[in-house]
Amino acid sequence: MASLTISEIRKWFGTNEVLKGVSLAVEAGEFLVLVGPSGCGKSTLLNLIAGLETITSGEIKIGDRVVNNVKPKDRDIAMVFQSYALYPSMNVRKNLAFGLETRGIHKDQIEKTVKRVAAMLQISELLDRKPSQLSGGQRQRVAMGRALARDPVIFLFDEPLSNLDAKLRVEMRTEIKELHQRIKTTIVYVTHDQIEAMTLADRIAVMKDGIIHQFDTPQQLYDNPSNIFVAGFIGSPSMNFIKCKLVKKAKELSVVLENRKGDSFLLPVGKADKSLEKWIDGDVILGIRPERIATGFHEQEGNPQIHEIECAVEVLEPTGPDTLVFVNINGGKVTCRVSPHAAKLPGESMKLMIDMSKALLFDPETQNRIGR
Ligand SMILES: Nc1ncnc2c1ncn2[C@@H]1O[C@H](COP(=O)(O)OP(=O)(O)OP(=O)(O)O)[C@@H](O)[C@H]1O
Ligand SMILES: [Mg+2]
Repeated sequence: MASLTISEIRKWFGTNEVLKGVSLAVEAGEFLVLVGPSGCGKSTLLNLIAGLETITSGEIKIGDRVVNNVKPKDRDIAMVFQSYALYPSMNVRKNLAFGLETRGIHKDQIEKTVKRVAAMLQISELLDRKPSQLSGGQRQRVAMGRALARDPVIFLFDEPLSNLDAKLRVEMRTEIKELHQRIKTTIVYVTHDQIEAMTLADRIAVMKDGIIHQFDTPQQLYDNPSNIFVAGFIGSPSMNFIKCKLVKKAKELSVVLENRKGDSFLLPVGKADKSLEKWIDGDVILGIRPERIATGFHEQEGNPQIHEIECAVEVLEPTGPDTLVFVNINGGKVTCRVSPHAAKLPGESMKLMIDMSKALLFDPETQNRIGR
C-alpha cells in the first residue's frame, strides 16, 4: 500500500478545462471515495492517476515518487474501468489469470487466486465463458476480479457496481468493504451513488465541474457541509432548502417562515454573533434534513431548540420503516420523515416538531455555509 498525493492538477481537453486545480492527499491504506454528478471529471482524474492520460499541469505522487512521467505499467496500480475493458477473445478464467501470467507468477498460485476471486464475486460457474456470453453485471464482476487478483499498491475503481441489480450491489458493497479491511490497500473509488460513498469511504471527496468542493469524513460531510451543493448531494432524501428572512429580536436570531395560510412564524437559529451580522434583515437559505422534522424526538423533553409547527400535508411517500411527508413551507415543498402511523393524509393539517439544533444557514448568493 502507498499514499497518493495529488497537487494542483489541471487537465484540458482542447479548449475545455475538465480538472481545475484538484488537490487531494490520500493516506496509505485509506479508502477514498470520489463522488460527483456525471461529467464532473471523476474518470478523468482516475485516468491521470493510472497514467492513461497526460496531466496538463500539477503533480501526482505515489508514496514518495513523482509519477507524472512514469508509464502506466510501472505505477503498480490495478484499475477497474467504468467500461469493463475485458479481453474479448479470452474466457473469464484467462481474463482473470492474464495479468498474473504476464508477471511470471507460478501456475498453481494463479489457479488458486482465480478460484478465490471467482468464488468471492460469484462467477465460478462462468469461468469458461467469453465476455460476449455474459450479462453486463457479470462482465463488471469479471473486470473487478481481474483487479482483485493482483496485489497492487493502489486500487482504482470506476463505478464498479453500476450495472449490478440492487441486491447484488449491496452484497458486493459489503464484500469490497470487508476486502479493504482485510488487505488495507489504498483505494480510490468513483461513484455517483452517495449511499455507496457514505458506506464505503474513510473520506469522501465531493466534486463538481472539475473542482473538489469538500474533502472530509462521511459524518463531517453530512453534519457540516461547506456549501449547498455538498449539503444537497450527501443524504437521501436530500436536505430541505428554504429561502427566508433572517431577523434579530433581543439578542436572538430567527428565520421568518410562512405556513400555507400565509401566517408567519419565527424559528430561532441561535445567538446573534458577528459571523451572521451581514445577513440580518436580508435573505438566507435555511437547510434542514428531513429527519429533523418529525412528529417527535427522543431528546425532545425541555429542549429549547425543538419547536412545534403546523403544516398542510401535500403528498405521502411510504418507504416502509418511515413515511416521507411533503408539506408546504414558505411556498415550497419540504420533506419530513415521520413514523408511518403518525402520517396524516394529503389535505389534512399536521403538527410537526422541528429540531433547529441541526439547522444550517447558507448565503443565497455564494451558496456557502454561513455562521456557526
Ligand atoms: N478524451 C476526451 N476528450 C475530450 N473530452 C473528454 C475526454 N474525456 C472526457 N472528456 C470530457 O471531460 C469531462 C469529464 O469527463 P469524465 O469522464 O471525467 O466525467 P465523469 O465524472 O467520469 O462522468 P460520469 O459519471 O458520467 O462517468 C466531460 O465533459 C467529458 O465530455
Ligand atoms: Mg466516469
